[in-house]
Amino acid sequence: MRLPSSVFQLAESDKFSRVNRKVSDLKILISRDQIARRVAQLGEKITIDFAGEPIVLIGVLKGAAVFLSDLARSIQLDATFDFISVSSYGNEKRNSGEVKLLKDVDQSMEGKNIILVEDILDTGLTLAYLRRVLLAKRPKTLHIAALLDKVPRHTEAIKADYVGFEIPDEFVVGYGMDYAEKYRNLPDICVVP
Ligand code: IMP
Ligand code: MG
Repeated sequence: MRLPSSVFQLAESDKFSRVNRKVSDLKILISRDQIARRVAQLGEKITIDFAGEPIVLIGVLKGAAVFLSDLARSIQLDATFDFISVSSYGNEKRNSGEVKLLKDVDQSMEGKNIILVEDILDTGLTLAYLRRVLLAKRPKTLHIAALLDKVPRHTEAIKADYVGFEIPDEFVVGYGMDYAEKYRNLPDICVVP
């Protein structure tokens, strides 16, 4: 399966650089239809699990923004949004092992039902760190929703309560996820060769 390349096609001179791969060279791992079906299921499950209680969806910027916006619309509860930002890999493909808080949440989390919404659970360092940060704010409950989970890569004892897809150890982009800030706007989840 290939994406139409016309809109995204880059200069010929960029062809061999990984950052500037032509979109037509990316292989689709999870299609937009598969994503939509799975996100709707997660939303239904969250709706049932919280049984009418209000929730706060906390998105981890920037990768989880697209997932959060779709997930939120498939949840039939009183839901508010907040966003948190941590230091990322920069242009690296691997986590440096150090997580820093760049932007905290805006609202008080005390007594609230929080769902931390993340694009990928990889080593688990980011979510283990954010779980500590958020638990210190004394929420009523804290759950984690991760669109993707690279289970064999976990180094931390962390489990997401809601997982979209378990994927192999491949670097993926699209549907909010980037490589050096590129490809976030691709509608499918793709592997960078
Ligand atoms: P962790 O701290 O190792 O679990 O890494 C989590 C973060 O790394 C995610 O929030 C992503 O931003 C980033 N990440 C991990 N794997 C990928 C990938 O395959 N593509 C894009 N970003 C990734
Ligand atoms: Mg992220």
